Amino acid sequence: MSNKVGIDKIAFYSPDYYIDMVELAHARDTDPNKYTIGLQQDKMSVIPVWEDIVSMGANAALQIIDDKDRESIDQVIFATESSFDYSKSAATYIHNMLGIHSGAKSFEVKQACYGGTAGLMAGFDYVRANPERRVLVVAADIARYGLHTSGEPTQGAGAVAMIISSEPKILSIDAQSFSRTDDQYDFWRPSHSPVALVDGHFSNQLYADSFINVFQQAEEALGTDLNQVKALAFHLPYTKMAKKALTALSDAETKMDEKMRARLIEDWQEQLNAAIVYGKQVGNTYTASLYISLMSLLKESDSLKAGDKIGLFSYGSGSVSELFFGNLVEGYQEQLEKVSGQKDLDERLQISIPDYEKYFGDRDLEYEANIDFEIPTDYVGFYLAKIDEHRRYYDFK
Ligand code: COA
Repeated sequence: MSNKVGIDKIAFYSPDYYIDMVELAHARDTDPNKYTIGLQQDKMSVIPVWEDIVSMGANAALQIIDDKDRESIDQVIFATESSFDYSKSAATYIHNMLGIHSGAKSFEVKQACYGGTAGLMAGFDYVRANPERRVLVVAADIARYGLHTSGEPTQGAGAVAMIISSEPKILSIDAQSFSRTDDQYDFWRPSHSPVALVDGHFSNQLYADSFINVFQQAEEALGTDLNQVKALAFHLPYTKMAKKALTALSDAETKMDEKMRARLIEDWQEQLNAAIVYGKQVGNTYTASLYISLMSLLKESDSLKAGDKIGLFSYGSGSVSELFFGNLVEGYQEQLEKVSGQKDLDERLQISIPDYEKYFGDRDLEYEANIDFEIPTDYVGFYLAKIDEHRRYYDFK
């Protein structure tokens, strides 16, 4: 078994459109500070109808995949909770669109926002046992609570693609991790519902409780080694949630020396400023969110360096959580320079609240048996070209 397995390459994708949270607050007759300070969200990505989880995932993966990957990827794992088909997995489309060899297997995984981590860990185990081979993990989601709901300001859309290998150029992942399953109804989406149902305040509480639980497990197992953790990336349903989790940790009972814990939390709070930069502008991306936070942390922090240990906290309602750690690999910054970042977010187009509401409603067109989608002339990337007898066809331009 290989000891050094982890994230070799990573990229994210978010649609070209966004709304400003102050404008949304005005349209909802709400104090803008509730969104920008209370939830710490500045912008929210809006997905048009000619994009979906498959096109977003392919657009993320296209940034990192090369011919060597196409031949050595044995599994395409697609994590999502926005699936449009109960049978055919989103991974099968991606496998074809990216030209991965036909001997690879492709499948979808689900456990709310934890799905991306489930995929990553399955890939990690596979590559540890088969160090010459690779796994592509794609996490893509469209967060939808509905217009005029309390969850509305915590929507968003985006995707992350990661290649797992035994020669990781970004993060080598530790084999030991700390998990928790707690059967609860804090957020769920019955198969007949196009939007999520949520007990929002309960989900905040469960997220924080889960973080404390897995932290205590890590503390038990790792003791003072936890001091070496320089920063944490978080699943970010909205970016204030990470701050709330660290505040809960300050108040919780842990075995750690109080001064040491206070210093650690202070360091992590400082690094959090970098870990939330992209999430503040994209919104919730469910399965992709933690990994967008990871990219934000690695690209936006000016104090992290190769060799540093970082932690990742994954939470999926329902609920499953996992805390795991890894070490930054020499040259990780250069690797990340090649992929999406702040520049891509800056190049998006702001749309009005009425246009956002129209795009929101347009998603129902997905249920049509036959429809051709009209794409803006300046669009670049994979897109959903048409639905024909309920079959989806993608194109690239
Ligand atoms: N100025 C500054 N802050 C304000 C404010 C104002 N005018 N008005 C409210 N706030 C703060 C509140 O104090 C609160 O902060 P706190 O949680 O740190 O106390 C925050 O803004 C949200 O206000 P709240 O009244 O709790 O909002 P809400 O009842 O509309 O619900 C969510 C917020 C997040 C629960 C809701 O958007 C939701 O259900 N989202 C989807 C689920 C989710 O994201 N869950 C997270 C875990 S996975």
